[in-house]
Amino acid sequence: MNKNKIVWITGASSGIGKSIAIKFAQNGIRVAAAARRLDLLEKIKNELGDKAEFFIPVQLDISNYDDVERFYKNISGDYTVDCLINNAGTTSFKEGIQNSIEEIQNIISVNLLGSIYAIKSVLPDMSDRKSGTIINILSVVTQKIFTASSAYSASKSGLHAYAKVLREEVRDKNIRVINVSPGATATSIWPEGVLKKYSDRMMNTDNLAEIVLNIYNEKSNLVSEELVVRPIKGDL
Ligand SMILES: NC(=O)c1ccc[n+]([C@@H]2O[C@H](COP(=O)([O-])OP(=O)(O)OC[C@H]3O[C@@H](n4cnc5c(N)ncnc54)[C@H](OP(=O)(O)O)[C@@H]3O)[C@@H](O)[C@H]2O)c1
Repeated sequence: MNKNKIVWITGASSGIGKSIAIKFAQNGIRVAAAARRLDLLEKIKNELGDKAEFFIPVQLDISNYDDVERFYKNISGDYTVDCLINNAGTTSFKEGIQNSIEEIQNIISVNLLGSIYAIKSVLPDMSDRKSGTIINILSVVTQKIFTASSAYSASKSGLHAYAKVLREEVRDKNIRVINVSPGATATSIWPEGVLKKYSDRMMNTDNLAEIVLNIYNEKSNLVSEELVVRPIKGDL
């Protein structure tokens, strides 16, 4: 039996991931929308009206390897996971000296390890099928130095390095590995004061989601491997 395709989006309860999940569902692409805050995911589903059937809320802490494996086992029993969008992320906006070990562990566990756990779970099936897409939402910190983001930069640059190696390993399996590195985008990841001052010049999550949808929809034998997207007025 041919299973229906699904796109697994992590961190879909707010910000960029929420906009990507909504954009895909609105275009009739079924999404497994994962995050810890199930109440927010249910609310998004309810607001999708006649497209709600394309939005499947899933409670998942991406930093827990056992939970990620269990989730993938369940979802892949019912659907073919055609695309993984590693979007879940967190930061602290503190300098290295101020970051607690718990904060550093959390940033690395969610942004780097969580993304790798998800990639590890989808890879065997994608490899067997000789098809699939992995999109990592990185950051402009992979391109440029930003202070008060050492752990965050390590997590994103670590995933960047991992993904660049993986891409070469899975080319012959027809698996697309795509890194999207956005600049400042107006979401609740930013402290309120920064949003108040700069949200006008930040990017909009809906516009970014449109770009991700377009990349996903590229169907020829090409792949947009690395994409850096900034506010037109540059970094903050
Ligand atoms: N906003 C920007 O300027 C910007 C720029 C470049 C890159 N990014 C990246 O874009 C991605 C999305 O960030 P955002 O700006 O949209 O921030 P956001 O609104 O705070 O969204 C973060 C998402 O990550 C999820 N998340 C956090 N910890 C998680 C965990 N342990 N398990 C599962 N999900 C978890 C959150 O869901 P729950 O809390 O419900 O679990 C939430 O849905 C991040 O990777 C971020 O680094 C953002």
